Amino acid sequence: MRPVLFVLSFMIAGCGTPLFRPYKCGPVLKEKDIQIFEKVNAFLDLLPGDTYADIGASSGYYDGAMSVFLDSVDFYIQDIDRECLTEKNLKRVTKYFGRFRKSPDTNRYHAVIGEDKKTNLPDGIFDKIYCNATYHVLQYPDAIIADLYTRLKPDGALYIRDEFVYDGQTRYCDSKQCRNLIPQHKDFLAVMERNGFRLTDQSDDLGDYPIYKFEKQ
Ligand SMILES: C[S@@+](CC[C@H](N)C(=O)[O-])C[C@H]1O[C@@H](n2cnc3c(N)ncnc32)[C@H](O)[C@@H]1O
Repeated sequence: MRPVLFVLSFMIAGCGTPLFRPYKCGPVLKEKDIQIFEKVNAFLDLLPGDTYADIGASSGYYDGAMSVFLDSVDFYIQDIDRECLTEKNLKRVTKYFGRFRKSPDTNRYHAVIGEDKKTNLPDGIFDKIYCNATYHVLQYPDAIIADLYTRLKPDGALYIRDEFVYDGQTRYCDSKQCRNLIPQHKDFLAVMERNGFRLTDQSDDLGDYPIYKFEKQ
């Protein structure tokens, strides 16, 4: 690469929009940005040997950041977006985050393409499933939550972090990806309950909102 281009790519990377992205889709996080993921891992209580899925994971960049602090976790990176989630792009993601590790990467990574009403994950094998900033874009939340029930082990846990509104509020999702109404918190809890889940814990606010933990009733 010519020196001027090399420097320019770093300048633009410093502004959060790298000219030469290491992977497609999702922010390109730097080492100083990923410390927050230790807090996510702590709340999810991810342990060596766990089988874990991220629903609506896009490229898997979030999981890449989490994986820096984890060993021997089986990651299933799931989304409906065939542009962002490919085996090739996932390899780029894990290669990029691998540079921040202090020890060799013993985690395993699988890409799974889902559908609007089902995740296409393997049945009954998951210790933990997480869904970050995705619940509000689901077209069929009941179908996906019912699907996740069947994918979890009997003692597995489902974690959901998203924005909700409370009585009297109406707000639309403002990203290009969705024009959905931000769900009411009480409707979200009703969906979870009628699909067999009970709320068992809640993290501190991470960013603007917490992670909710659900277990099978
Ligand atoms: C706002 S993005 C969040 C991405 C990522 N979890 C994050 O925290 O940055 C929502 C993601 O949900 C995905 N999505 C929408 N409907 C889905 C479904 N039924 N199953 C799985 N993923 C879905 C979209 O393709 C998109 O990647």
